Amino acid sequence: MVETTEETTQHTDSDGDPLIRVRGLKKHFPVKSGILNRVTGQVQAVDGVTLDVYPNETVGLVGESGCGKTTAGRTMVRLTDATDGEVFYKDQNIFDLSKEEMRKLRRNMQFIFQDPQSSLNPRMTVERIIGEAIEFHGIAHGSERRDMVRDLLERVGLQPDYATRYPHEFSGGQRQRIGIARALALNPDFIVCDEPVSALDVSVQAQVINLLEDLQEEFNLSFLFIAHDLSVVKHIADRVAVMYLGRIAELGPTDKLFDDPLHPYTQSLLSAIPDPDPRKKKTKERVVLEGDVPSPIEPPDGCRFHTRCPARFGPCDSVEPRRVEVEDGRFVRCHLFDPEFADEASEANLEDLPNPPCQSGRPVDEPEAADGALDRTGDDDLDDADIDDTDIDDVSDEDDAQH
Ligand SMILES: Nc1ncnc2c1ncn2[C@@H]1O[C@H](COP(=O)(O)OP(=O)(O)OP(=O)(O)O)[C@@H](O)[C@H]1O
Ligand code: SF4
Ligand SMILES: [Mg+2]
Repeated sequence: MVETTEETTQHTDSDGDPLIRVRGLKKHFPVKSGILNRVTGQVQAVDGVTLDVYPNETVGLVGESGCGKTTAGRTMVRLTDATDGEVFYKDQNIFDLSKEEMRKLRRNMQFIFQDPQSSLNPRMTVERIIGEAIEFHGIAHGSERRDMVRDLLERVGLQPDYATRYPHEFSGGQRQRIGIARALALNPDFIVCDEPVSALDVSVQAQVINLLEDLQEEFNLSFLFIAHDLSVVKHIADRVAVMYLGRIAELGPTDKLFDDPLHPYTQSLLSAIPDPDPRKKKTKERVVLEGDVPSPIEPPDGCRFHTRCPARFGPCDSVEPRRVEVEDGRFVRCHLFDPEFADEASEANLEDLPNPPCQSGRPVDEPEAADGALDRTGDDDLDDADIDDTDIDDVSDEDDAQH
């Protein structure tokens, strides 16, 4: 029952140390305007994310469009430079590495892009797309490399002969399999899967999800699995992080989070999932959120969710919630769970809510410690000046991801 930034207790099923440790990760994009193109604000896309990913684990990352999921994933593998915070791969802070060192480490940290159409270079054959990084890292050359590519194609359920074809000759599902084969080529142990199935037909989604699960088992992979579709996350993830306006509102084991969501935002997200059990339909009430998602350029004071929260009370519009561990491995950023505000919460008459979120007896000790080591605010726009649209840039990002 303690608040901690060292989330050593958050993973309930695994032994051993985390493979990836993210501490206070921030990514702010400068907003420029006027003739002089001056910086007039910052898009706080990711603003203090702390998270662990354990070996062979899948952590789902969910939240509304624009809440910062992709940016968090990209920053975690240094496809985008962070503004602040730390990301450790095993014991190595990847933000301390030189470009050359990062390129070597890139073998272990890969990225699968949302849109298989735009993430594969249309001018390259499949063999080149997959084989380029193998060659670059000196893993294999010539016929050995060709054999490796063919093996990989076979492993992801494609015919080895497809190696000579170009991306436009494939269906969406097949293209995503090529993207997966490319991510696997360097034998990584951590892969960020950014909405890997959302661009695919429903019938193909299950095949690709099953493939990812098989590969995880076979190659002992860890995934950060970013998705809109909560039922997919429920199926594939061991733990789930719910993101709102650049921060993680709730983090916990998948079954607990889905059975008993704590944060009012998680409750509203989950209440929108249709229940397959017809008997439950009548009792399940949907929490409809008021208003739009606020701008990440000027996020609300206090709790970022307070402008839409049906449970808001006294401190919510002025005091930023601490991250509290309400039980082993369950973290939530909400005053309802902070003993400092227990009296005010109990007086706030929250019983009228469809899902009264107020929980009792879940004390918290300390506030979250200071954020990580970087202090690069303002200088990281150089790398990102040309990536206003993630999808458009997926091809060049992919080169980075591979090399
Ligand atoms: N290169 C960039 N320059 C400026 N702002 C950016 C850039 N990339 C992302 N953003 C902004 O950062 C915020 C988070 O974007 P991000 O793409 O990470 O969200 P997301 O949760 O992945 O959304 P979606 O579910 O739609 O993919 C958004 O407000 C977005 O407009
Ligand atoms: S801190 Fe307040 S506004 Fe934020 S989620 Fe909790 S109850 Fe709602
Ligand atoms: Mg995204």
